[in-house]
Amino acid sequence: DPYANEPQRLPALIVRTQKPMNAEPPKELLVGALLTPNELFYIRNHLPVPQIDPETYRLKVEGEGLRTMELSLEDLKTRFRRHSVVATMQCTGNRRNDFNETSRVVKGLEWDGGSISTATWSGVRLRDVLLAAGLDDEDPNVAHIQFEGLDKDMAETCYGASIEVEKAMDAGGDVLLAFEMNGVPLPPDHGYPLRVVVPGVAGCRSVKWVGKIIASGEESTSFWQQKDYKAFSPSVDWDNVDWNSAPAIQNMPVTSQICEPQRGAVVDDDEVSVKGYAWSGGGQGIIRVDVSADGGETWHTAELQKVPQKRGRGWAWALWEATIPLPKGTKGPLELVCKATDESYNTQPESAAPIWNLRGVNCNSWHRVGVTVQ
Ligand code: MTE
Repeated sequence: DPYANEPQRLPALIVRTQKPMNAEPPKELLVGALLTPNELFYIRNHLPVPQIDPETYRLKVEGEGLRTMELSLEDLKTRFRRHSVVATMQCTGNRRNDFNETSRVVKGLEWDGGSISTATWSGVRLRDVLLAAGLDDEDPNVAHIQFEGLDKDMAETCYGASIEVEKAMDAGGDVLLAFEMNGVPLPPDHGYPLRVVVPGVAGCRSVKWVGKIIASGEESTSFWQQKDYKAFSPSVDWDNVDWNSAPAIQNMPVTSQICEPQRGAVVDDDEVSVKGYAWSGGGQGIIRVDVSADGGETWHTAELQKVPQKRGRGWAWALWEATIPLPKGTKGPLELVCKATDESYNTQPESAAPIWNLRGVNCNSWHRVGVTVQ
């Protein structure tokens, strides 16, 4: 069994699949702190967790115009400047279950809004390592930086992804080769001993257990770059999809979610206290979250809690809270709704049907929670 040596996981995690492990934290715990405790951080694995000896581990760096390098963990820690970034990681499939409101089937893990978490990542800048290997970012032959994971399937195919060279080389893009998560070595599930962290970008590009970095004119040829993580028009379905017609998802759209109260909860009739998270891709920090207790007729502005980050480098989510008074005599079903706005004034679509896509990715419609007032 290739899964015989999987790490221990917190029993509180809600497991979506066991082999490979895919699990999300319960929502009330997710909004407990701006930095998600490592053991609560969602896990998205496609393959068994590889066993890597940190002593013999080497990161290979190669490709177009590069001097091939092999770096030990010690080399990385001693030859490059240490850098820390607070960044949210989100799976493109987060909130996939909200496409259920459209009653059209999507294929994928039924994430209930918990495949998102935030950590302080520490390591070295990918940019510094590429510069040390001699990358010339003006070289017209280099357009993408590919990453290969050390996790492999039965046919020895490894997990892979790529990002554009501009993001990789942007000093303000904060792309890291991280060896620490919230001040301790990466846990096995999150990429021990080294992972890529691409702030502001879909989690699928932040390759865990990274073994090789390749500068190339082409994107990664992996299934996950070429096919899986792309979104199409609602009119495109499995019988007429042309995978080459859409770019791979990199930056993700603005989203938010109500984490408390949860669907089906019973609430008091005087006021309702609502809590959740909001995040946007591309470093667009959250500037506002609006919450409604009447399905979107009237709105209350939530109080935001966030780590201070510069404009354009707002990699971390905001947690938010709003207490909404209910009109006297309110009884029965009530719909709570939230929507976020980022610093570019992007906001969320009202419903999921117009953004439906066959893989059920990038679901960012207003989040709706039906409760009962007693
Ligand atoms: N890297 C490797 N090597 N293998 C994987 O399965 N999953 C990707 C990405 N990096 C994956 C990977 C996906 S789809 C996501 S959303 C994030 O890792 C999840 O990171 P986490 O498990 O640390 O939350």
